[in-house]
Amino acid sequence: MINSLRGMNDMFYPDSALYEQFISVATKVASRYGYRFLQTPTLEQTSLFKRSVGESSDIVNKEMYQFTDKGSNDVCLRPEGTAGVVRAFIQHKLDRAGGVHRYFYHGSMFRYERPQKGRLREFHQFGIESFGIESAYEDATTILMLCDIFNELAIEYTLSINSIADENCMPAYKKMLIEFLELQNDKICEDCCKRKKLNPIRVLDCKNSNCQLIYKDAPKLLDHLCDSCNNEFEQLKSILDDNSIEYKIDTHLVRGLDYYNRTAFEFISGDIGAQNAIAGGGRYDKLCEHLGGRATPAVGAAIGLERVLELIKLGLEPTQSYYFGAMDSESIPMLIRAARIKRAVAPCNIEYRPRSLKAHLKNADKANASYCVIIGEDERKDAKLWIKNLQDNTQNRVDIDKF
Ligand code: HAM
Repeated sequence: MINSLRGMNDMFYPDSALYEQFISVATKVASRYGYRFLQTPTLEQTSLFKRSVGESSDIVNKEMYQFTDKGSNDVCLRPEGTAGVVRAFIQHKLDRAGGVHRYFYHGSMFRYERPQKGRLREFHQFGIESFGIESAYEDATTILMLCDIFNELAIEYTLSINSIADENCMPAYKKMLIEFLELQNDKICEDCCKRKKLNPIRVLDCKNSNCQLIYKDAPKLLDHLCDSCNNEFEQLKSILDDNSIEYKIDTHLVRGLDYYNRTAFEFISGDIGAQNAIAGGGRYDKLCEHLGGRATPAVGAAIGLERVLELIKLGLEPTQSYYFGAMDSESIPMLIRAARIKRAVAPCNIEYRPRSLKAHLKNADKANASYCVIIGEDERKDAKLWIKNLQDNTQNRVDIDKF
């Protein structure tokens, strides 16, 4: 027997139906906010992710599905969606067009992580990216949009926000943090020792509880923002307050990808175990330029679909389904015609083998149908259908023309 690869799942009904429901709601909300669907390739040049997500990130260091293709190109299955969208934005010269461009996307992402509940090697994201606006108003609007999606699906969350500074205030903060870390050299974990050299602020979201205890006393980013970053952060908070969005300020929220500056945020769920981040995002004003495009401010976010599907409490909309059965083979063509009429509005299941009424009713019950529709010799002659409502056990005969 050949099985799927570890951390890569098949998605059957009802999860697949919840997936469709999520995409439909998120698409509707995104288009109300001015986003348009963008499809980019799943496979990209490895250098794209090295330059955007960052050489110091776990994603690039340990988790890429990277290989050489038959044309000797160094390629990689996308571990996230932002880099590909920015590449497409530049390649199609939209960075030169000016104005505001907003895109949404959804699909598979690949990270070679240790699989566990809520953590897969192939998972799905719904993402949004907005280009052209350098303002915390757009950051706040991005957050409001995610809140709208979650609210519409009755998904509960807590929101954490932080500012991870910009090129003006980050160097001085980094220096201060490194000085602090030098004094803790023998106490912090091995990974943090590496992070200290590659990208020191990444130590702040280390999962090691011992390290976290130490970093409680580390200098805080928010205390060292320049005036401009500080004003942006104040503006972000005031818009969230105005819209009654509750949030927590988490000074250790630094995100696992290197392209962010200023606003960073995460949506967390208390109901799905250790892998509790259901969405994350932030501002990335330098990425476009860094990948060879014109300087273009940008902000975006992505929602982890497998994690939110667990939380969709609304469930599937109750559907009325029909079971169709014939008492003799001559009635089957009429049965198919009747089912076709009903299929315009409801799911229908036809049994092609003639059966007794009792056997059909048993089958309909097993199929969880709401109605059982039967055609026998009498119904065929009168052009009528015999229908039993399996919820209240009433029955009647209806003209096929009025069905
Ligand atoms: P991210 O935080 O790496 O951000 O991923 C976003 C979401 O994808 C996470 O909050 C989580 O729900 C889900 N996710 C991540 N890894 C896995 C996994 N192994 N298994 C299941 N779900 C997972 C990004 O990817 C950025 N590109 C978001 C962004 C867009 N920032 C700006 N624009």
